[in-house]
Amino acid sequence: MSSIEDRFVELHPESKPLAEKAMGLFADGVTHERRSMSPYPVYMERGVGPRKWDVDGNEYIDYKTGHGSMILGQAHPAIVEAVQSQMAKGTHLSSGTRLEVEWAEAVIRLVPSVEKLRFVASGTEALMMAFKMARVFSGKEKIVKFAGAFHGWSDPAYVTDTETDREYGIPRGTSETVINTPAHDLDALDEILVGRDDVAAVVFQANDIAPPEFIEGLRELTTSHGVLLIFDEVVSGFRWSNAGCQGRYGVSPDLSTFAKILAGGLPGGCVGGRADVVDTVGEGGIRHPGTFNANPLSAAAGKAALGIVERDPIVETADKQADRLKAGINKVLQSMEIPGGAYGVSSIAMVSLGTPVDIDDPHAVPAGVEQGGRPVSTEVLDKLQLAIINEGLWTHPASMILSASHSDADIDATVSAYEAGLHAVRAAGLI
Ligand SMILES: Cc1ncc(COP(=O)(O)O)c(C=O)c1O
Repeated sequence: MSSIEDRFVELHPESKPLAEKAMGLFADGVTHERRSMSPYPVYMERGVGPRKWDVDGNEYIDYKTGHGSMILGQAHPAIVEAVQSQMAKGTHLSSGTRLEVEWAEAVIRLVPSVEKLRFVASGTEALMMAFKMARVFSGKEKIVKFAGAFHGWSDPAYVTDTETDREYGIPRGTSETVINTPAHDLDALDEILVGRDDVAAVVFQANDIAPPEFIEGLRELTTSHGVLLIFDEVVSGFRWSNAGCQGRYGVSPDLSTFAKILAGGLPGGCVGGRADVVDTVGEGGIRHPGTFNANPLSAAAGKAALGIVERDPIVETADKQADRLKAGINKVLQSMEIPGGAYGVSSIAMVSLGTPVDIDDPHAVPAGVEQGGRPVSTEVLDKLQLAIINEGLWTHPASMILSASHSDADIDATVSAYEAGLHAVRAAGLI
C-alpha cells in the first residue's frame, strides 16, 4: 500500500467496518455510484455550513455540498427551522398545502420562463416528465440529447448506442426514441433537425460549460425548426444565476427541470415552463401521481431556500469564492509546474490536471485527447482524492462545488490542503 493509502486507513478506522457491512448489503457496497472509493468509502456523520465530520471525527471542508444541492451550506438555521417546524405539524398531509403554493410562486418569481410547473420527487423524475410533456405537446416521439450529457438515471437519459444500452437494461424501443448528437455542435444538430420531422425536443444540460454563442444558437435553431427546447437546470438552477443558466445567458427555454437547490437540500424536483406545454399534464392528458410530490418537508425547505436565494447575494457569494479557489489552485499548479488549470462557470470549480486550459476564458474547456491534451489517469485522480481527503478536503479533485457558506479562510485553507495533496501524490511518483 502507498503511504497515501496507509495514512487514509490510519485516519479512518471506523469507516472500514461500515464499508465491510455495506458490501454485503448494497450492490457495489454503496447507495450512489459516485460514493465508491478505494480502499473503502468514508462514512460521514454531520455537517454545519461548509464543514463536515466523519464517523472518526475527522473534519473536512466540503466541496461535494450534497451533490450540489447545499448552496447555503449544511444545516442552515433557516432550513433547519422550516423543516423542524413543519415536521411537528405533519410530514405528509396527502393533500395540497399552502407551502407548495408558496414554493411554486418562488420558482415563478425567480425564473421568468416558468409560467406553470409540476413538482416531482427528484431531478431524474423531472427529466422523465419533461420528455413526456414534450412528446404529448408535439405529438412527436424523439428526444435529441448531447452525447456525454447527464440527465439522471432513467432509461431515455442513459441512451448511448444500442449495444451499450442493452447492458444498462434499456429496451431497444426506448433507445430508438433518443438521438445523441455531439456536444456544442450546432451544425450537427441542424443536420438532424433538417432531416426529420419526428423530434419533440432537444435537451441541454445547462451546467455544461458551453460558449454563450452555442447556448443562444441552440434557442434560435430549435425555434426555427419548431422543436421544443428543454434546459436541464438540475445543477445550474439557482446557482448559475437566480434563474439558472437561462438567467445568466438571457435565453428562454420552453421547459426547464430543477431539483437540488430547488428543494433546499431535501428530495424534490420540478418541471416548469410554458403553460401550454405544462398543461399537457392532467385530465385526459399525462397521468402524474407521486406520493412524495411537493411533500411538506421538501416544500418547507425549498420555500425557505429559495427565499434566501431571492433575498441575499447567495449566487454572487458562491461565485466569488469559486473565483478565489480557482485563482489559488492555479497558482499552486503554476508553482509546481503541473500543466492544467482550475476553470469553470459560476460556483463549480473544475480542475484539469495534465491538460492545459485557458484560465482567462470562463467558457474554455481543456483540450481533448484529440487536440493533444494529456489528462492524468483516473488512477492518479483517485490517489489525489485520497491524499486531499487525508488533508481535510471532502471533494473530488477535478470538480469542486462551492456554497455561499465558504469563507475566505476556508478557501485559503483549501488551497493549502490541495497543494499538500498534490505534493503527496508527487512524492509517490505519480504527478
Ligand atoms: C444535470 C443533471 N440532471 C439530472 C440529474 C438527476 O437528478 P437526481 O439525482 O435528483 O435524480 C442530475 C443529478 O446529479 C444532474 O446533474
